[in-house]
Amino acid sequence: MRKIKVGILVSGRGSNMEAIIENSKKGNIDAEVAIVLSDNPDAPALEKAKKSGVEAMYIYPGEKKTYMTPDREEEYVRVLKEKGVELVCLAGFMRVLKKTFIQAFYGKIMNIHPSLLPSFPGLNAQKQAWDYGVKVSGCTVHFVDEGVDTGPIILQRCVPVLEDDTPETLAHRILKEEHKIYSEAIQLFAEGRLKVEGRRVRILPGK
Ligand code: GAR
Repeated sequence: MRKIKVGILVSGRGSNMEAIIENSKKGNIDAEVAIVLSDNPDAPALEKAKKSGVEAMYIYPGEKKTYMTPDREEEYVRVLKEKGVELVCLAGFMRVLKKTFIQAFYGKIMNIHPSLLPSFPGLNAQKQAWDYGVKVSGCTVHFVDEGVDTGPIILQRCVPVLEDDTPETLAHRILKEEHKIYSEAIQLFAEGRLKVEGRRVRILPGK
């Protein structure tokens, strides 16, 4: 099967990015990581990507802390389009995307979030869940719209909260599941099996 070209946006550690790169290299997914972009020049993810032979660069995101102005979004879009990117994966990218970016890749942007959305959107989702005292949390891959963690849900995986968990141990167990479901969602997209109907993402049967 043809491999789709994926662009990954990162701000920090990049473990989800690494899992996607590894799965693409092993041929576990019909995807090739064409470019990694970061809004943080010191993101460890940039070095990790380069070490595995994937082009990676920092692009100045502008002065705003939580989002980018249209001109900055245009620059990200320009580079992604130049690389022929067909699917954008946010992997720990800590900025909200606005209209310019979303319209350029409408229906072709995914995000991973470390909770069972719509519970605990935003920052420190694992700690939010632990503080609240839920017995089950997990992770979500969803399409990105202009809200914060609000787009149609593609896949979710449950992770139990154990008696002796701390926010850190819970986050660690959730992360292991994140690494699996992100690649699963990318593969479903590559196979053309995701159909968005309003809030619902239908997963079409495989061939
Ligand atoms: C992951 O847990 C991801 O779900 C989370 O940031 C972490 C990035 O780790 N994303 C969000 O909270 C987005 N709202 P990584 O850089 O090792 O992939």
